[in-house]
Amino acid sequence: MSRPSGGAASAPGRAPLEEQVWPATAALDEDGVLRVGGLRADELAERFGTPAFFLDEDDFRARARAWQAGFPDGDVYYAGKAFLCRAVARWVADEGLSLDVCTGGELAVAASVAFPPSRLLFHGNNKSVEELRRAVAYGVGRVVVDSFAEIDRLAEVARAAGVRQRVLIRVTPGVEAHTHEYISTGQEDQKFGFSLASGAAMAAVGRVRQCADVLELVGLHAHIGSQIFDTAGFGLAAHRMVGLLAAVRDEHGVELPELDLGGGLGIAYTGEDAPLAVPDVAERLHTIVGKECAGAGLAVPRLAVEPGRALVGPTTITLYRVGTVKELPGLRTYVSVDGGMSDNIRTALYDARYTARLVSRPGSAEHHVVTLVGRHCESGDVVAHDVPLPADVAPGDLVAVPATGAYHRSMASNYNHVGRPPVVAVRAGAARVIVRRETEDDLLRLDVDDLGASTGTGTPTGTGTGTTVVHGAAGQSARADGGHESSKPGEAGR
Ligand code: LLP
Repeated sequence: MSRPSGGAASAPGRAPLEEQVWPATAALDEDGVLRVGGLRADELAERFGTPAFFLDEDDFRARARAWQAGFPDGDVYYAGKAFLCRAVARWVADEGLSLDVCTGGELAVAASVAFPPSRLLFHGNNKSVEELRRAVAYGVGRVVVDSFAEIDRLAEVARAAGVRQRVLIRVTPGVEAHTHEYISTGQEDQKFGFSLASGAAMAAVGRVRQCADVLELVGLHAHIGSQIFDTAGFGLAAHRMVGLLAAVRDEHGVELPELDLGGGLGIAYTGEDAPLAVPDVAERLHTIVGKECAGAGLAVPRLAVEPGRALVGPTTITLYRVGTVKELPGLRTYVSVDGGMSDNIRTALYDARYTARLVSRPGSAEHHVVTLVGRHCESGDVVAHDVPLPADVAPGDLVAVPATGAYHRSMASNYNHVGRPPVVAVRAGAARVIVRRETEDDLLRLDVDDLGASTGTGTPTGTGTGTTVVHGAAGQSARADGGHESSKPGEAGR
C-alpha cells in the first residue's frame, strides 16, 4: 500500500459527526468527548478497556423496526453472520424479526435463547448432515437447499425425523452486483446455489418436488452480494426470479408462494458513501416484484429479505487506545492502536475504507492525514487508511472507528494470541457486556499441552491409569476424553 499520508488537512475532528456513519445516539460533548448510548467514551474505555466494541441498542432496534415496516406482509431475516450473540438474538426475536443462520454454531446461539424455530432460516453451501439433522430437529422454518446432494441428504434427514421440511431453493440469477469480488454472489461462476441460466435451478425444483412426501417446496431464494449501493442489481435479480417463478408454474403447474431476495444493502463507512434508505429499497422491491408478477399473471409471492450489515453495521463503534505515534518525514505518520486486524480484518481483506476520530478530547485544530494501524506483526495490519486526526494525537488518546457492527467481531481472530474484544451494549446511559473480552486464559484453555513430547522420551506409552492413550503420528498423545496425558508414569494429570 503506498498511499501518501502525513499531509495537513482541514479540521474535520471539530466538525459534527457524519450522521450516516455514526450510531444514532452518538454525539459530541462540549469538551470534545464522544458519547454513545448516553455514555462518555472515556468512561466506557476506563470501565471496559480497549479495544472494545460498543453497540447502540436503541439504534439496532430502530433499524430492525424500519426493516419490519418496509416489509409488513413479508419476512425480515436478520443475517446472523454479520454479528450474533444471545442478546442480539433476543432483540431480533423481541422486535418480531426472523433470523438467518448458516452454521450449526449460529443455530446453537438461536437455540440457546429458544428463538422461535419457525422464524429461522438455515442456508449455506455445505451444511453437514449433522447440521441438517439439528436444524430439522429444532424445527427451523426454512432450509435453503444449495446443491443436488443436499436435497437428497435433507430428504433423508427429514424422513428419518418423520417431518416434512419446508424448503427454499438457492438460485444464482446471474447478476453481478457492483461490490468486492469476494462478497458478490449472484454471478454464475461461484460456489453458491443453482444456476438459473443453465437450467440447474429448474432441475432442483424437479428434484425437491420428487421428495414431496418429506420436503415442501415453498419458494426461491437469491442473494446477489453485499455492500450494494444501487437498486439496479436487486431489480434485475427480482425480474429474473419472478421469471423463474413463472417458468416453474408453466412446467410444474404450481405457484410458489415465497420469494427471498437475500441481503446486501450497503452502509456508509465514510462520509463519501451514500447508502440507500430502507423504505426506498423496500418500495422498489415491492414495485418491481408486483409489476413483474402482474406481467406474468402470478399472484405476488410473500417477500423475504435478509439484511445483516444494514441492520447492525452502523450501530457499533470500536474504541481503541493510541499507543505509539511514528512520523516518517516525507512519507507518512503511523498511529498505532491497541487492536488491529484481529478485530477488523476488512481493511486488509477487502481494502475497505473507514473513518476514525479522536474522541477523548478535541485535539489541536491542525489535522494530519495518518495511517491508523494495529498492534499485529504484519505490515498489512491497517485499521484505516488516510484518516485525518489532530496533529497532536498522542499515546493515551482514544480513537473511535464507526460502522464496525457487521463482520468485525464475527470475523475477529486471535492472531498473535490476542484475545477478541468484548461487545458492550449501550442504551440510555447504561452499559452491559453482551460478549465478554477473551482472555489469555481462554486461549490457553484450548491449548492441549504436550508433556509427552516435551520429555524427549519418544513414543508415549500407556500410563496404567486406565485412560486410553491415542498415539499420534508425531508421537503426541492425547486422552480420548480430550485431556492431555503424560508419557511418564507418575506425571499423569499434571
Ligand atoms: N443472506 C445471505 C444468503 C448471505 O450470504 C449474506 C451475506 C446475507 C444475507 C447478509 O448480507 P448483508 O446484508 O450483511 O450484506 N464479510 C463480508 C460480507 C460477507 C457477506 C456474506 N453473506 C464483509 O465484511 O463485507
